[in-house]
Amino acid sequence: MAKKLSLWDFYEMKKNGDKITWITAYDYPIASLSESAGIDMILVGDSLGMVVYGYSGTVPVTMDECIIHCKAVRRGAPNVFVVGDMPFGSYHTSDADAVANAVRFVKEAGMDAIKLEGGVRVESRIRAIGDAGVVVIGHIGLTPQSSGVLGGFKAQGRTAESAEEVIKDAIAVEKAGAKILLVEAIPPELAGAITKIVKIPVLGIGAGAEIDGQVMICGDILGYFQAFTPKFVKKYANIAKITIDAIKEYIDDVKSSKFPAPEHTYSVLEDEKNKFENMLKKYLK
Ligand code: KIV
Repeated sequence: MAKKLSLWDFYEMKKNGDKITWITAYDYPIASLSESAGIDMILVGDSLGMVVYGYSGTVPVTMDECIIHCKAVRRGAPNVFVVGDMPFGSYHTSDADAVANAVRFVKEAGMDAIKLEGGVRVESRIRAIGDAGVVVIGHIGLTPQSSGVLGGFKAQGRTAESAEEVIKDAIAVEKAGAKILLVEAIPPELAGAITKIVKIPVLGIGAGAEIDGQVMICGDILGYFQAFTPKFVKKYANIAKITIDAIKEYIDDVKSSKFPAPEHTYSVLEDEKNKFENMLKKYLK
């Protein structure tokens, strides 16, 4: 069994140029299979709002939903560094609320770290949560919880002015005490520059390869989330097709009485057969 990696292993990996691998999981089976595959980190992302609950975004996701999914993932992947994603509203009201909710991820669900969205505007939240002893991962660039303000799920940092804002966010997140940075949907040149500017590991989604590692959404790379597929996704499997084909075959088998076959049934005990048949005769006249 592989050893569970810690923050310090991720810092070593950055130093040595070893890429860090990260995937989302929301339930026991995907967490357990990800651990078996040898993933470095798991994120119980608030993307569960779309992938699991069918919302059109992440905003409706609640703390209680996140905690339930984090607990399932923790049980499935006891030897992986697992990150809980703070949902919209759980850290927006005050530093005190942010700390209380971050602590729930660690205390109730056994998370190794939490992630929250925003740069300069959430500095005090990152500092407060870090001071409470919880490992914080910052998330900048495209921040889906504020997609309304950003004008939709749009790539960020594509002009010099907006790229400089993203760099300022990265510096603020590191200065506030975040231990890892996630950059989403920004040009590779900008992500590469940020990876050099900050000392903490920089992981990305839709941010190119010149960074310390990648995160992908399990439903995207396994091909079972079908509502939409961002440009930055590479599909490694087509679970949707495999699932639909399997369910169609099951329907056909049941309709044509091919399933269940004798090997899927329980036999009457050998020395009970006569008694059993006589008993049935009473009812099947
Ligand atoms: O919630 C999520 O899955 C995320 C992704 C952008 C990695 O934050």
